[in-house]
Amino acid sequence: MKEVIIESKGLTKQYNTGQTTVPVINGINLSLYKGDFTVIMGSSGSGKSTLLYLLSGLEVPSGGEIWLQDKPVHSLDEKMMTLIRREYIGFVFQDFNLVPNLTFLENILIPAYLVKNDRNKLQERAKELMRKMDIIDLVDRLPSEVSGGQQQRCSMARAIINNPRVVMADEPTGNLNSSSSEAVLDILTDLNEQGQSVVMVTHEVKSACRANRIIFLKDGQIEDDLRFDDGLTIEEKEMQLLKWLAGKDW
Ligand SMILES: Nc1ncnc2c1ncn2[C@@H]1O[C@H](COP(=O)(O)OP(=O)(O)OP(=O)(O)O)[C@@H](O)[C@H]1O
Ligand SMILES: [Mg+2]
Repeated sequence: MKEVIIESKGLTKQYNTGQTTVPVINGINLSLYKGDFTVIMGSSGSGKSTLLYLLSGLEVPSGGEIWLQDKPVHSLDEKMMTLIRREYIGFVFQDFNLVPNLTFLENILIPAYLVKNDRNKLQERAKELMRKMDIIDLVDRLPSEVSGGQQQRCSMARAIINNPRVVMADEPTGNLNSSSSEAVLDILTDLNEQGQSVVMVTHEVKSACRANRIIFLKDGQIEDDLRFDDGLTIEEKEMQLLKWLAGKDW
């Protein structure tokens, strides 16, 4: 049995806009397991990003519980949450979210300096990640001076610099062309093969097939939970997923 790394119980989220309350997450009980590559799918507005933000502690739930291993995310104050998040979660955003006036290297090092002090060691690790992501020639560039794919690879290096227990990515290829998308997905797949737990939101069938588990959201609830058998090729997974999605309203 795999170890549970994140768990939600009766999780809810509503947004108050003016006079009305919009229910977005409506009672989600979910266990995510160590070493899995989990994908969250669902139609636009089904609550995928909100769920990912809640699970990572970037959004505060309206009700229910979220556990990051033994840490009760739902009852931590903001300061504690920030500390825990830095250690537990690496987050990759659709629009990269790099700091515009810092170089690539500096962007990667910010979260590291907040956690540890050994600057030389951290610089070495940052450069090693940049080599792995094929952006080592860009150490001194600003985000505005490189392509979207390069920015996303930088943001992935930033996400994993602290060896987080989970990497979360919200449509990480949503703003990229197809070859950059493949490169980003290959990096996430490699990380997962080395044992990194990954949770990714996507609406693309092909990207979703990088996962071994797919959770399907509808109206803020889990409608389905698919696990692929071990050893399937991407093409075999794609066939299964397309069959499974046929008839679904999304
Ligand atoms: N800050 C907010 N205030 C009010 N409503 C919000 C807020 N954030 C999200 N919502 C609403 O919550 C619902 C779910 O949003 P969410 O962004 O989680 O959907 P999603 O599944 O990620 O959609 P997409 O595929 O378009 O990214 C939507 O109806 C959205 O309008
Ligand atoms: Mg979204």
